[in-house]
Formats: sequence, structure tokens, C-alpha cells
Amino acid sequence: MKHKRVAILLSGGGSNMVALADSMTGEHPARPCLVLSNDPTAAGLKKAADRGIPTSAVDHRPFKGDRSAFEAELRKPLQDARPDIVCLAGFMRVLTGDFVSDFQGRMLNIHPSLLPKYKGLNTHARAISAGDAEHGCTVHEVTAALDDGPVLGQARVPINVGDTPETLAARVLVWEHKLYPAVLRRFAAGDKTPVQMP
Ligand code: GRF
Repeated sequence: MKHKRVAILLSGGGSNMVALADSMTGEHPARPCLVLSNDPTAAGLKKAADRGIPTSAVDHRPFKGDRSAFEAELRKPLQDARPDIVCLAGFMRVLTGDFVSDFQGRMLNIHPSLLPKYKGLNTHARAISAGDAEHGCTVHEVTAALDDGPVLGQARVPINVGDTPETLAARVLVWEHKLYPAVLRRFAAGDKTPVQMP
């Protein structure tokens, strides 16, 4: 079987990349082809290299906010890897509509909230201060609008009395590592039926 090629973009520790990479074995229709970061020191790059996955990094800082110049460089290793699917996994740079449009319909992202609630940052603190009973994470198709594309999966967790953003984030992260691989497996098989967890 010809495997779908999956590129994973990250900015930090890469725990979601590890979950995705380690899920792509056996009968899984996809295999990782590149792990790419905007930070050459991202710990996730070493985790990928330890797994024998090709890695690359384009430091965004020299571009000083010139997004299109940064993205012109970022495209190079990404296009060389010929991905069928691109997974943003803890990738902390906002991508322009131009960049996203090259991958429209085959770029996924995981966001730590129950979208459409809490787009953007500090999602755990915002859910706690809103007094929500539950929170969670969402995998969605990436479109030009931030954290806004069609939902491909969600995992829900309770917000417990006394939760801090840290304790809640840790509870959500456990489910991110279950949800993202489940969504990728389905998506790579051509099935966009949303995954609901638990
Ligand atoms: C995760 O909380 C994820 O929801 C967000 O980035 C955080 C770090 O992810 N997108 P990772 O450990 O680098 O995969």
C-alpha cells in the first residue's frame, strides 16, 4: 500500500508529534515524512530525529515579523518533503492565508479548547475564569481564519474544583495525544467523520 506522507510542524516539546509519529505504524495508511520547526532548538526536533524522521528548522526570528519572507523559507523543506497531509502540532506561529491555501483541505491543527469557544491563546485560564464545567481540545482543518476550520474531532474533559490552568492543561494534553492520532488515521483514510472522545 502506498502510504500518505505526513509532515508535522512544531515549535516546542513535540508531545503531539510523538503521539502522531508513534501511531503511524502497521496498517496505518500514513507515515511521517518530515518534522519542521520555526525554532532550531525545539526539543521536538531531537525526538523526531531519534525516531529516524527527517527534520528541518527555519528560525522565524531573523525575519522580524515579515511573515511572507519567513513562509517563503518555510515552504522550501516542506515542499521538498512532498507531504500529502500537514499536521500543525504545537506550532505557535500564525500562518498567512497564502501559505494555508497551498495546503487547504489537507492541513490539520490541534487547539486546546472546545472550538468555537476560546480561539487564540490562554484557553485553559479562560475556561476556568468563565466557570465552565468542561473543556477539551479540537482537531480542525486549517483555513485562513485562525482556529476556525471544519472540526474533525473533539475530546472533552471536566473542569474540577481547584483546577489551575496547569492542572487543566495537563488533563487536556492526555486527550490531545489520543484525539490527534485518531483523527489523523481517519483523515488519512479519506474519512472526515468527526471523532468524539471520550
Ligand atoms: C499543546 O497544548 C497543544 O494543544 C498546543 O501546543 C501545546 C504543546 O504541544 N497546540 P506539544 O507538546 O509541543 O505537542
